[in-house]
Amino acid sequence: MRTAFTDLVGVRYPIVGFNRSPGVVAAVTNAGGFGVLGASAYTPAELDAQLTWIDEQTGGQPYGVDLLVPEKFATGAGSGETSRAPGNLVASLRAQIPDGHLAFVRDLLDRYGIPDVPGHPEYDEIAASLNPDGAAPLLDVAFRHPIALIANALGPPPPGLVDRARQQGVAVAALVGQPKHALRQIEAGVDLLIAQGTEAGGHTGTIATMVLTPEIVDIAAGRPVLAAGGIASGRQMAAALALGAAGVWCGSVWLSSEEDVANQAIKAKFLQATSSDTVRSPTRTGKPARQLRSAWHEEWERPGSPAPLPMPLQPMLVNEAWQRIDAAARAGHEGALRLESFFVGQVVGSFGQIRPAGEITRQIVAECEQTIRDLAKLGESS
Ligand SMILES: Cc1cc2nc3c(=O)[nH]c(=O)nc-3n(C[C@H](O)[C@H](O)[C@H](O)COP(=O)(O)O)c2cc1C
Repeated sequence: MRTAFTDLVGVRYPIVGFNRSPGVVAAVTNAGGFGVLGASAYTPAELDAQLTWIDEQTGGQPYGVDLLVPEKFATGAGSGETSRAPGNLVASLRAQIPDGHLAFVRDLLDRYGIPDVPGHPEYDEIAASLNPDGAAPLLDVAFRHPIALIANALGPPPPGLVDRARQQGVAVAALVGQPKHALRQIEAGVDLLIAQGTEAGGHTGTIATMVLTPEIVDIAAGRPVLAAGGIASGRQMAAALALGAAGVWCGSVWLSSEEDVANQAIKAKFLQATSSDTVRSPTRTGKPARQLRSAWHEEWERPGSPAPLPMPLQPMLVNEAWQRIDAAARAGHEGALRLESFFVGQVVGSFGQIRPAGEITRQIVAECEQTIRDLAKLGESS
């Protein structure tokens, strides 16, 4: 299946597997697709270890890395605040979290009886580094590996990224949820646009993939566009190609893979969920992100609950709570199972079973090819 995307990155099939688990990235790449590692949850040292492992598993076949660098940051990126030593930055951000918010989260966990777990202070540092300066060490690591593509969500590429990528022959991609975002990304010099519709898991806008993709294809004026959001089958992939996309960027479907590192409790909830069971909520990251609806969201929606804080204060407020909820849910704790949730898109309703990521890739591609053949017959018969 040759498209402008397969030519750009040198893969057989125009299907991207976005995931934070290196096992998924390697499996999708080894099946002829293009694996992309979500780097935002890792320290630079962890990212280096993950990419080294992927290099070993994929034997030179292409893969990419995705960063999450928001344009707007609580302290105001570029104010000088973000370039302070990580410890100082974390402390100054922590001081901005209101006591009422801390008390709300404490009370919520108490009411559900969620046990304490040893803290992970590095999570605060990871959240605090979600800014253009903080992303620099992750970029340094990524460029030391043979990546074929680097992507950014939530805003234009961080300073210097496009020039550095050009020098190393790495394609630059950006996720966009509105036509005006695409115009700014083209101006910034990106090579590839990902039109991500509201159906998607994770941070997402309000325009549906069916509407957004052809809008972005028209704006892109020949640059390749991938469709994202709501694509988990070959029929959906064929529809994206019909909309003018040069391929598909899938995120949620890999959460139903064996290689995905999510815990069994959330995977079991995904298998039970329908396409109506997600919600676009800022209560985890401070920006609207689609996730599985749970008792967590009911608590935040109750009258009198505080309004979520901006990124990165909201993740700093709730990170420890989620460590506790995940740990308790893994142990089968009833209250934790009611609260348990994770980022996922509306395609969660189509998850039938947990399967190897390579098998998922091959099935989507085969069904897409069959759908295109069926549609061609339809064209001949008219
Ligand atoms: C669990 C999860 C985490 C995500 N995290 C990120 C992220 O860190 N950076 C990013 O660019 N996109 C992220 N996304 C969005 C995906 O890159 C992709 O655009 C989206 O999943 C596509 O829609 P789908 O979920 O319907 O497949 C995430 C998606 C999911 C499901």
